[in-house]
Amino acid sequence: MSISFEGRVAIVTGGGGGLGRSYALELARRGASVVVNDLGGATDGSGRGNAAAAVVDEIRAGGGTAIASGASVTDLNEVQAMVEEASSAFGGVHILINNAGILRDRSFANMDAEDFRAVVDVHLIGSANCTKAVWEVMRSQDYGRLLMTSSSTGLYGNFGQANYGAAKMGLVGFARTLALEGAKYDIRVNTIAPNAATRMTESLFPPDLLGRFRPELVAPAALFLVSEEAPTNHIVGAGAGVIQAAFVTLTRGLALAEDECTPEAVAAGWDRIIDREDEIVPRSGVEQTMSILARLQGA
Ligand SMILES: NC(=O)c1ccc[n+]([C@@H]2O[C@H](COP(=O)([O-])OP(=O)(O)OC[C@H]3O[C@@H](n4cnc5c(N)ncnc54)[C@H](O)[C@@H]3O)[C@@H](O)[C@H]2O)c1
Repeated sequence: MSISFEGRVAIVTGGGGGLGRSYALELARRGASVVVNDLGGATDGSGRGNAAAAVVDEIRAGGGTAIASGASVTDLNEVQAMVEEASSAFGGVHILINNAGILRDRSFANMDAEDFRAVVDVHLIGSANCTKAVWEVMRSQDYGRLLMTSSSTGLYGNFGQANYGAAKMGLVGFARTLALEGAKYDIRVNTIAPNAATRMTESLFPPDLLGRFRPELVAPAALFLVSEEAPTNHIVGAGAGVIQAAFVTLTRGLALAEDECTPEAVAAGWDRIIDREDEIVPRSGVEQTMSILARLQGA
């Protein structure tokens, strides 16, 4: 099976460097018309630059089709103008990869409210802005592929990244709900938790591993997740060529009778509550309620 993006229009936010750049280059190489969006600022979100234009030049030099957008994902008006420009230049938008991001790492004790807000604003609100701007376009064309960018920090936590973790897990809930709402219009929505040496993370990798964790080794998973044959409602980890799937599970748990439902009974039954045997992977929130009802009926 060969995966082509011929005739598709893709927006990659934060496409001016790191992971976004490699997604944009590969989408264009496989035939997509690409909008490379990037504010072009520093890792902490300060300043502006023309990183997007440089990637567009690279794509065009390789014979591909691309336009640059310097919109900030945090500004809904700028984002809407970007989507209008993409639609009029290329006749629609089929793919959106929400990838733009910043970091303001500090332990929570030392993190001020502005550092929390700024990180949530770029990752979570920025992804919501871009998605809002393409949602009607995708619904009306009965086709859309959306990829959110989460992180191991959102899924599992990492020291010093409370703001980032909150935003990144927020994106998982956002994606999962959109996957349900978009299904009828063939809008498929997935989440990637990448692992790559970029300006954001290179200080964390030992020098001998920098080459192994190239962004180009995350791009294949990202591209599959926005392809015609993409699955939907999945969380995929990808780094150095290792592709994994993450699931939010629910244990069978403990069923207490109404008159036995006390904090002491919860304490006494804790081992059963967290016992993972027979756990399930709900595909929507309502399945949690269904599993409770099944237990009440003696299942
Ligand atoms: N590199 C990793 O290992 C890793 C791990 C987990 C998650 N991520 C996520 O992957 C995504 C890409 O990160 P990266 O590692 O390539 O880092 P990066 O800094 O190279 O890329 C992020 C890009 O987003 C752009 N950007 C920032 N704010 C923006 C805004 N308001 N509007 C438009 N563009 C904006 C930046 O200019 C930058 O080019 C981020 O969402 C990041 O949180 C990366």
